[in-house]
Amino acid sequence: MNLTDRVAVITGGAGGIGAALARRFAVEGAAAVVVADLDAAGARAVAEDVGAVAHAVQLDVTAEEQVRALVADTERRYGRIDLFCANAGVATEAGLDAADADWERAWRVNVLAHVHSTRAVLPGMLARGQGYLLHTCSAAGLLTAVGDAPYTATKHAAVGLAEWLAITYRDQGVRVSALCPQGVDTPMLAEGLAAGHLGARVIAASGAVLHPDRVADAVIAGLAEERFLILPHPEVANYARRRAEDPDGWQAGLRKLIRRLHP
Ligand SMILES: NC(=O)c1ccc[n+]([C@@H]2O[C@H](COP(=O)([O-])OP(=O)(O)OC[C@H]3O[C@@H](n4cnc5c(N)ncnc54)[C@H](O)[C@@H]3O)[C@@H](O)[C@H]2O)c1
Repeated sequence: MNLTDRVAVITGGAGGIGAALARRFAVEGAAAVVVADLDAAGARAVAEDVGAVAHAVQLDVTAEEQVRALVADTERRYGRIDLFCANAGVATEAGLDAADADWERAWRVNVLAHVHSTRAVLPGMLARGQGYLLHTCSAAGLLTAVGDAPYTATKHAAVGLAEWLAITYRDQGVRVSALCPQGVDTPMLAEGLAAGHLGARVIAASGAVLHPDRVADAVIAGLAEERFLILPHPEVANYARRRAEDPDGWQAGLRKLIRRLHP
């Protein structure tokens, strides 16, 4: 898929990776870019920056009726949705002792919101025999987010869901990509690094911390190839291979890195 004349919706579009995707989709010739976020002012600022093809919508992706309304309004306004990017996500920086409310929020934003948006957007895509779902997961969904148990568990679930969707709907014309970056220079990682969180330091020590525009580059290339796994950090493929081939050796290596960073 290329973005020329496409109608795209991006959740979590007010900042970081979502905002970079919105800007890039417009540059690539999208007909419309809907920037949806909990942060209404942030979404409006991004939409204004992107220009006339963009408009902002405030929504909470954990509220299914708001996600349904976003999809219905977009389809009414533009006639269709070609690409739905389920990108909003939350980290907790907590381990097993994360409050149940934080486990719940991670589950609702990182996984259940992908279920709800797909349920809403799929009927139109199936009726037209085409459509594209881009689910922002994380390298944490293939490996482990050190120091963040809810993030690790929910991002693994998000990758599992995306794979299930790809297998189930590809032959009906609906393509799916799971975007799995490692470190990206956005408020999510910057806040963790500023607070000295071990997880953020492990990410910074494991590879390049990419500008969100480089993630947008990888997305454009991945969509063009209609590739399931979009890995802005190519080294993640090697890490995932090593983890699959030798889980114990992989875990030992990660524990060694943790001991080095957190003696
Ligand atoms: N930054 C990284 O290093 C990194 C790495 C891998 C994956 N990711 C993933 O990329 C995605 C984007 O994150 P980012 O790094 O750009 O962080 P970010 O915090 O800049 O952006 C996340 C956006 O999601 C929005 N959001 C959160 N909860 C929401 C809700 N309930 N409803 C609507 N919007 C909501 C926030 O307001 C924010 O604008 C997330 O899914 C994140 O898990 C980030």
